[in-house]
Order: sequence, then C-alpha cells, then structure tokens
Amino acid sequence: MTKRLIGFSVFILLVAHTSFGQRKTITQKVDSVLRLMTLEEKVGQLNQYSGRDLTGPASTKKTNMLDEISKGLVGSVLNVKGAKETRDVQNEAMQSRLKIPLLFSLDVIHGYKTVFPVPLAEAASWDMEAIEASAHIAAKEAAASGIHWTFAPMVDIARDPRWGRVMEGAGEDPYLGSLIARARVKGFQGTKLGRTDAVMACAKHFAAYGGAIAGRDYNAVDLSDQQLWETYLPPFKAAVDAGAATFMNSFNTLNGIPATGNAYLQRDILKGKWKYTGFIVSDWGSIGEMIPHGYAKDDADAAQKAIIAGSDMDMESRAYKSSLAKLVKETKVSIALVDDAVKRILYKKFELGLFDDPYKFSDVAREQQALNDPQHKLIARGVAQKSIVLLKNEASILPLQKTLRSIAVIGPLAASKRDLEGGWIVKSDTTQVVSLLEGIKSKVSNQTVVNYIRGCDANSSSTEGFADAINAANNSDVVVLAIGETWDMSGEAKSRTDLTIPGEQVALFTALKATGKPVVVVIMAGRPLIFPIVSDSAAAILYAWFAGTEGGTAIANVLFGDYNPSGKLPITFPRSVGQIPIYYSSYNTGRPVTNEKNVVYKSAYIDAPNTPRYSFGFGLSYTTFLYSEIKASANKMAANDKVIISFTLTNTGKYAGEEVVQLYLHDLVASVVRPVKELKGFKKILLQPGESIKVSFEINKEILSFYNSRLQWAAEPGDFDIMIGAASNDIRLKTKIELVGTKK
Ligand code: GLC
Repeated sequence: MTKRLIGFSVFILLVAHTSFGQRKTITQKVDSVLRLMTLEEKVGQLNQYSGRDLTGPASTKKTNMLDEISKGLVGSVLNVKGAKETRDVQNEAMQSRLKIPLLFSLDVIHGYKTVFPVPLAEAASWDMEAIEASAHIAAKEAAASGIHWTFAPMVDIARDPRWGRVMEGAGEDPYLGSLIARARVKGFQGTKLGRTDAVMACAKHFAAYGGAIAGRDYNAVDLSDQQLWETYLPPFKAAVDAGAATFMNSFNTLNGIPATGNAYLQRDILKGKWKYTGFIVSDWGSIGEMIPHGYAKDDADAAQKAIIAGSDMDMESRAYKSSLAKLVKETKVSIALVDDAVKRILYKKFELGLFDDPYKFSDVAREQQALNDPQHKLIARGVAQKSIVLLKNEASILPLQKTLRSIAVIGPLAASKRDLEGGWIVKSDTTQVVSLLEGIKSKVSNQTVVNYIRGCDANSSSTEGFADAINAANNSDVVVLAIGETWDMSGEAKSRTDLTIPGEQVALFTALKATGKPVVVVIMAGRPLIFPIVSDSAAAILYAWFAGTEGGTAIANVLFGDYNPSGKLPITFPRSVGQIPIYYSSYNTGRPVTNEKNVVYKSAYIDAPNTPRYSFGFGLSYTTFLYSEIKASANKMAANDKVIISFTLTNTGKYAGEEVVQLYLHDLVASVVRPVKELKGFKKILLQPGESIKVSFEINKEILSFYNSRLQWAAEPGDFDIMIGAASNDIRLKTKIELVGTKK
C-alpha cells in the first residue's frame, strides 16, 4: 500500500473506533498503531535527538535529522522551542508513513520565559502552594511554546554542596524532598495530561545521583540498600504517586551498575514494585556512557543492556538507532521488550492528544499571550521573596528605612541581571530581570541617595575598585553588599572543592566593615557557601540564592520590610568542606559529643565542632515566635492508634510573620540505629503581632516506620522522642511517646 493510503487507513481505523461502537481506550488505540509498525519504526519511537540544529541554518546534520523524522525514525526531539518552530518540525513527522507525532521536550527547570528562583531556593520557602504555582507557570509558558514534556523535577536528595547540582534539587531531606517532588509534578502536569497549559513531568535522575562520591559530578555512587530506600528513593516514589508521566535515569553507577543498565532500579523497583506505567528516558548519552563505565563493550552491548534493564527511550546516544533492530533480529533482544517501550511512549502521545491534533501545543497566538502575562512576574516575585533566608540580623538593623538619607549598594552582584537567573534558563529575556540595585532604587524615597559601586569582580584577584567602594560607604548611612557565586558556578558539571565566596569579595566586605558603617550582606548562590568572616561580622545576612526575573524586587521587599522573610534552609551549611557530608539527620554513634568542651575520644574533630555553620530548617524573621504548652493526646499508642501532639504558637514581636514549625522524631532503640532527628511534619503559619494559634500534628504508625535491615517498612515498639522546633538545631518543645506491641 502507498504511504498515504496506509496513513489514511490508520486515520480511518482510529476514527472508526472512536465515533462508532465502543469508544476505544488509549491502550486499544496504542495496540492498533503498534500492529501497523515495522521494527525500524518501533526503534524510531525509542530514539530522541537534541534538535538545536533543526531551527538553525541549513546543514547536513539538519537535513539528515529532518529526513529521519519524515521517515518516522525519531520519537522525540529536545531543545526545539517555539510555537512556529515546533509546528515546522512536527510537520516533517506528519510526512511519515504512520504520521506518529513527535514529543517535544526541554529542560524547563525553574521557568520558561519568566525565571523563578532556582529549585533549591524554592525549597527554602517550604511553601508547597508557591512551588506548585511556580511549576504551573513554567508549564503554561512552555506548553504555549510547543513543549509537551519538561525534564523536571530533579528530585535527587543531596547532602554534599560540593556537587553543583544541589542547585537543581530540594536539598537534603527525603520528607521535604518528597512533598516538593509532588508539588512540582502537580504543578507541571496540572489535573490532566493533554491540557495546553500543562506538560509531562520527568522525575530525575533515577537514582541516587546526588550521592556522587566526593561531590564530583557523574562520579560513582556506593551506598547500602537501606540508605537507598530510606534517603534517595522516597522523592521518586512521591513522584510516581503524583502521577509523573516520565522518569529519567542517571549517569552514575549505583553499587557498580550504571543506572541506565540497572534492572534492580528500573525493572524491579520502578516498573515492578511501584507498578510504574510511564516511560524512562536515558540521561543525555548515558546508554553509550556504559562503555566508558566499563559495563558495556560497544554500542550493541550497551543497547542490549539498557533495553533489558528497562530504559525505554535513548536520548542522544544513538545506540538504539544503530543496534536495537539487529539485536532483535538476532534474537538477542526480545521484540516484547521493544513493544513494551514503544507502547509506553505511544500511550503518552495519545494522552497528550497529539494523535488527534499533532499541532495543538504549537499555537502562536497562545504563545504570545502566555509569554507576556504580567501575572507571571508577580507570582515569580512572590515565590522569590518566600525563598529568601534571613541568616543574621544583629540589633534588628533590618528592615531598613525607605527614607534613609543615603545607602551604598556595592558588589559584583549588585547590578547583575544574568546571575539572578541562575543556570538552566531556556527562553528568558535577561534584560527583563530586576537587579538588586534596581530593586533598591525603586524602593527608597526620592530623597534617598543611592551610591552604587561594583567594588570588585566576582572571581578575580583585583582590588582596584575597593577605594571607590570604601568612599561610597563613608558617604552613606548603611551598606548593602551583594556577593556570592556567579550563575555558572552552580549546576551541572560545576562541582567545587572550595565553597568559599570566590575572588576578593570577602576582602571587599572586610574593607567596608572597617569603615564602621553597618554592612548588610546579600549572598547570591546556587548552593551552600562557606563564609565565616561574613557570618561573624556582618550586621545582617540575607541568603537570596539565584532569585530569578523578579529577584531584585523580592530582595528589596525583604530588605525594606515589605515582606517579612520566612525562608528556612533546606540543606545544611557546613563550617568547612572538611565536615562534608554533614546533615541534620545524623546518627548518634557510640561516642556522641554531649559537651563541646569535652570531645576526647568522642565522635568529633580535634580542629572544629561537629555542628554546622547554619542548620537544616534554620531561618530568622523580623518578628519572634513563642512555642508553648505542648500536649500529647496519649503517651502510649498501639500500632493502629494515633496520637495528637499539640502546642501553642504566638507571634511575640511587632511584625506579622510566617513561621515554619517543624516536627522531628527520634526512634531511641531499633533494629537498625535511627537518626537523632528525622523531619516528619511541618506547617508554615502566618501570625499577626500578638496572635496565638494552636498547632497540632498527628503521630501514626506510618510516621514511626522506617526500612529495617531486611528493607521492610515497619514501626518497631519502643520509645520515641517527639520534638517541635523552629529549626533542626532549635528544638523548642519535646515530649515522649511509646509505641506498644510485641517486638519482632
Ligand atoms: C543533562 C542533564 C539532564 C538534562 C539532560 C537534557 O546532561 O543531566 O538533567 O535533562 O541532559 O538536557
């Protein structure tokens, strides 16, 4: 039959089964299409290319790729964005025999055109609604520009800030990370796939990529199954439960086996135990990378190991394209494995509605409207100010008065726009970013003199700008100094062995401090940094991360009190690199330090305390909160009981403010030792000055459960410390409960 006749017959087949008789289910439609496909067309669906060349000038690469697309030999393309651009490329796919539409994917990590704070910053908001709203706006803008699928959320737990990709995740804690994974999947995907204001999410990088040895990106990961299940898998399970349409595997080996070829991860856990029905895409070339890993001999070996281990789509390695059909013909790979992968992918294309209308996401008018909606910046501003963490505020120097006579705004990041966007931007207009200097200027009175001096570069040895900076400080009432990392110092392939603030920025701080003027420091970064001199002698410190398009306005709102900072750290800030890995949910050991002054023969260092510089869950406010009157509805509970822990929270200051109250527990004796603290609940509560509220948390068997040495999820009878805190190192209230029952 000619290509057109077959294409038409597919169309009739689909119409016949939808308009007459029993409405076909998606599964039936998928099976109908699968039956028509050749082996080469099936392998084509498992093939994903980066299509940067497709929207560029004519080239051999572009011609060849378009040719393959028009023959139905490509299933998805990443890095093509725009309603017109995607329509043009989709049109090539519509020339193919079966007219199977392409999936267009892109790394929309923290915004498409409107840039939101980097994900680690958003995690500091502890505000699931804000995080979901951020993902929804990103999806709305991306989907209006022809994108069907974002490679987000990155849900890798990370406890090593030397690893630059901590910037992309939700920090060190599996409980917080799981809630954020859920919020982001819901934000990206909305209520139902196929809406043109939603995209498919992609939970990545499966799995344990954040456990890279020495914090060096792409390095091996070696950890116990108990740790894998307790720490690294929960956010992925949360993503499955939230309906994540796709997963992306990771570059690392896990206990000697590359994730891409790891059947334990992809088949036993994800598609087996968790019954996952979406599809898995490899991370850029990771199938081919099994060769340098020393796990595959060549592309054919890599392709065979990957498809057997459950990797459905091959991003960019071309191993499937070159070898999979041959492996099937040689009966080295069962066609059933290929069919399963193809069906998973086709299923999503039907869910998105692409077979009905391949161009439904590529609408220029909707794109123009979505990319210019002023509401999006307002939402981004709100998320940004909620993400800022107040680390220090000596003598309540903050908030500043808007009617200040003069203010010196100094530092290499003060006037920067690009740095506020952070890494992984895709379509932003950097000229639209509000710099901190612009934010401050628009906030202060017309009479206030703003003296801006750059002072130094972010990462050079020059101090020639110091004199002007000192002069500006001497002529001002207060100094706001903006220092930290540049946008390209955090993110993928940005591991650092030295986490101090680079260049001469700290020296500039010291010089400004010497003027005797109060110095308020705003630190911008994509990860925890180490800044002891600033910590010790700045008047105030705001950790603003990379705050996005509206960053300058958000930071100014906090500086001048239009927003009372409410952020809490989602990751521990070490005193030195020597302490890493350091995280709050550590183990007591047999020789715990009970008194910092007596550490002889204790689990301690002889040259530094065990405590971090700033702890997980820490963040100050312009007001103060009193925690009082803790009560437990019972002190004993059986496995199917519930205990309600309640307490009173009071705003004892003069500003309205939000407090993130945190529930921690410690299982005192168990079949595997348990961390001294585990976050098991939190609530972000707004109180007016003087206002009190009764807060309660429910303790149940689920909360008391953990993975034992046989990887069984269970709660064991015994005593539990229940703690309520303003931070993991700031426990305000404590009580005990006993889980009764027979120890197994
Ligand atoms: C990168 C990243 C991954 C990203 C992919 C596509 O190497 O590891 O997070 O989604 O390639 O750009």
